[in-house]
Amino acid sequence: MSNISGAYPVHVAIIMDGNGRWAKKRFMPRIAGHKAGVESLRKIIEETGDLGIKYLTVYAFSTENWNRPKDEVNGLMNLLVNYIDNELNNLNKNGVRLNILGDMSALPTKVREKVEMALVETNKNTKLTLNIALNYGGRDEIIRAVKSIYNQGDSELIDNLDEDIFSRFLYTANIPDPDFVIRTSGEVRISNFLLWQLAYSEMYFTETLWPDFGVSEYHKALDSFKNRKRRFGKI
Ligand code: IPE
Ligand code: IPE
Ligand code: MG
Repeated sequence: MSNISGAYPVHVAIIMDGNGRWAKKRFMPRIAGHKAGVESLRKIIEETGDLGIKYLTVYAFSTENWNRPKDEVNGLMNLLVNYIDNELNNLNKNGVRLNILGDMSALPTKVREKVEMALVETNKNTKLTLNIALNYGGRDEIIRAVKSIYNQGDSELIDNLDEDIFSRFLYTANIPDPDFVIRTSGEVRISNFLLWQLAYSEMYFTETLWPDFGVSEYHKALDSFKNRKRRFGKI
């Protein structure tokens, strides 16, 4: 007896890793790898929408990525601004609603304003929700939720606190947990991504570097998901 659903995930999350190594292999600067990574992202977003998957979350910049050289951090911020400038029309055309997971207040003003504009401009789209984890850390998110609950000053809230209520104080409030997580580049770790939300997610690791991750490999990963037997602690 099998309880394999054969269905696509509702929510896919991706740790887009390996841009730097992709560039290094080609004797190019790391930022060239990040640029190539944006191209991969563009294709994966389009395919995700076409497949009818409702949520895509991509890890773009962690709370720890600030510890990279200043040039690389600035380069990544500029890439994000360019991405929005170049892609906003396409996102709207494809029904993609943009959402940010992470602390936007720490972003450079120019970047924050651009992102806020894109959030407003794509707000009415319903085909696919694209969550960009930006200045995101799973531990940071949990601490913020705890503080935010405490700051309500509502003892009833504390008394009734359960997993559902707690989830409403996370960046992912009202978003179902990822069913499937893909990490590229051969690293087999979580790197502070969605620590709470990944409790029962299916994981997929591939050696492919993110700029080389294309639609056919995406399908291969999704086929693997379709054959998973999810038990959620039951038998
Ligand atoms: C992932 O690629 C993108 C970000 C973390 C912003 P990396 O930049 O981590 O690439 P590698 O891991 O050094 O190859
Ligand atoms: C995770 O990749 C963060 C993103 C993909 C944005 P890292 O390259 O920062 O992770 P570690 O340092 O290898 O764990
Ligand atoms: Mg990396």
